[in-house]
Amino acid sequence: MTVHFIGAGPGAADLITLRGRDLIAACPVCLFAGSLVPQALLSHCPPGARVVNTAPLSLDQIIAEIAAADAAGQDVARLHSGDLSVWSAMGEQLRRLRALEIAVQVVPGVPSFAAAAAALETELTLPGVAQSVVLTRTPGRASSMPEGERLAAFAATGATLAIHLSIQALDRVVADLLPHYGPDCPVAVVWRASWPDQRIIRAPLSRIEAEAQGIDRTALILVGPALAADGFDDSRLYAADYDRRYRPVGDAPRFPA
Ligand SMILES: C[S@@+](CC[C@H](N)C(=O)[O-])C[C@H]1O[C@@H](n2cnc3c(N)ncnc32)[C@H](O)[C@@H]1O
Repeated sequence: MTVHFIGAGPGAADLITLRGRDLIAACPVCLFAGSLVPQALLSHCPPGARVVNTAPLSLDQIIAEIAAADAAGQDVARLHSGDLSVWSAMGEQLRRLRALEIAVQVVPGVPSFAAAAAALETELTLPGVAQSVVLTRTPGRASSMPEGERLAAFAATGATLAIHLSIQALDRVVADLLPHYGPDCPVAVVWRASWPDQRIIRAPLSRIEAEAQGIDRTALILVGPALAADGFDDSRLYAADYDRRYRPVGDAPRFPA
């Protein structure tokens, strides 16, 4: 018996890996994490599958569901939105399952920051502009932030920020970022990236709060100069005179054929 943790993607039902879809179809038990997991994915469950929304359950109750499936020798598909490596609460489940000696597999999914960048048709790392993306959040009711991970500290790097779980605190986000990025820095708020009703709001940092009025919950705040579409260098990788293993250039290439 195995628990398959499956990244269910950002919302569109077809943004899931083939491996994840096939595992859902093969598992007689499916536990899914609330409204952010697209309901359409549940149509892949086999007929008669036990399908449980875990949003109203405690960790103990979720583990009890898995332990019951284990006792019955039934594999479990465990769906969380986006990818499992960030803000999925997978870590605490893995710890319990390891203690119970229940086997697990983790199948990655499309994270929401990637879906938001796709919606914006934007590369978040542009040559000479930004070469790092910080996936972060602001403190919430259930989650404090480690002292070193203040938004202002990340902002001081000038990197592209993908700020999750924070649209309700947009005023504080703007106040923290203004001293570092300045009022004209481009910002995009992407609401329900990849959902049919996806919305995109673009504005300079000084105006984003006014423009994004009424946006709540499932939204990402992307900030940084890379969001401005031009004014950056071409990468060296595809430069005609750049000598590389797959495209040797000149009389004495570094990697001879
Ligand atoms: C609990 S976290 C889950 C993150 C998820 N594991 C991932 O890989 O993106 C939920 C937050 O992710 C962001 N999010 C998730 N899905 C989104 C989507 N489709 N569009 C925009 N933001 C999304 C929002 O900031 C939301 O508050």
